[in-house]
Amino acid sequence: MNKIVSKEYLSERVVKFEVEAPRIAKSRRAGHFVIIRVGERGERIPLTIADSDVQKGTITMVVQNVGRSSAKLCELNVGEYIHDVVGPLGQATHIENFGTVVCAGGGVGVAPLYPIVQAMHKAGNRVIVVLAARSKDLVIMEKEMRQHSDEVVIMTDDGSYGKKGLVTDGIEEIIKREKVDLCVTIGPAIMMKFVSALTKKYEVPTMASLNTIMVDGTGMCGACRVTVDGQTKFVCVDGPEFDAHKVDFDEMLMRMNAYRDSETRK
Ligand code: FES
Repeated sequence: MNKIVSKEYLSERVVKFEVEAPRIAKSRRAGHFVIIRVGERGERIPLTIADSDVQKGTITMVVQNVGRSSAKLCELNVGEYIHDVVGPLGQATHIENFGTVVCAGGGVGVAPLYPIVQAMHKAGNRVIVVLAARSKDLVIMEKEMRQHSDEVVIMTDDGSYGKKGLVTDGIEEIIKREKVDLCVTIGPAIMMKFVSALTKKYEVPTMASLNTIMVDGTGMCGACRVTVDGQTKFVCVDGPEFDAHKVDFDEMLMRMNAYRDSETRK
């Protein structure tokens, strides 16, 4: 049982939870994730560890209320417990001094991007963050990103904040302006597909953190299967990050859509 020690709404449907998990807080690195269950019979939800505090023994997770299970989680309050938190899972992000790194996040993908931004910046990279959202009230974690990057570019679909346009417009402007050594992208699969197509055109190496359905998180069930460079990979053990230019995003989108009905059913 893991106690919730703080809860904050980042936008109407996005909640930041800080949860007691001392051992995970100590061993987690950028890119790691956990699988949580709200109740004993609850569905397993994979969530990236957005931050941790070793002193307090807590980890921070950001949850978007998109379906039945995430809604149950978002209803929990400070002092209540999450039934279990398993992790850290997955492979940590490969961090080194690449030079200039563009970190592009859309929607709730901004949360898992945050530890990568922090680690890339600490490793000496020039870090440019592109935050994309439909409108101003959906832009999250801007303040945190500004603290650990050299520049933050905000893109909104409706132009209500930052520049009007898609995440890809923001990235393209940067690539045309200066040499980019690596792009890291996290967000909806469709967004990552288009980011990948863009950076492929400009030959900018790109890493995508995939957010497939997960069940066991140990490589046994196959729920998170994706095809990368023609080979079957499991996001939970081989990922979650992969060379975006080699990911079969169309297959990933098809598999994720297959679960959409059951996830939204009440
Ligand atoms: Fe089951 Fe990855 S979640 S194999």
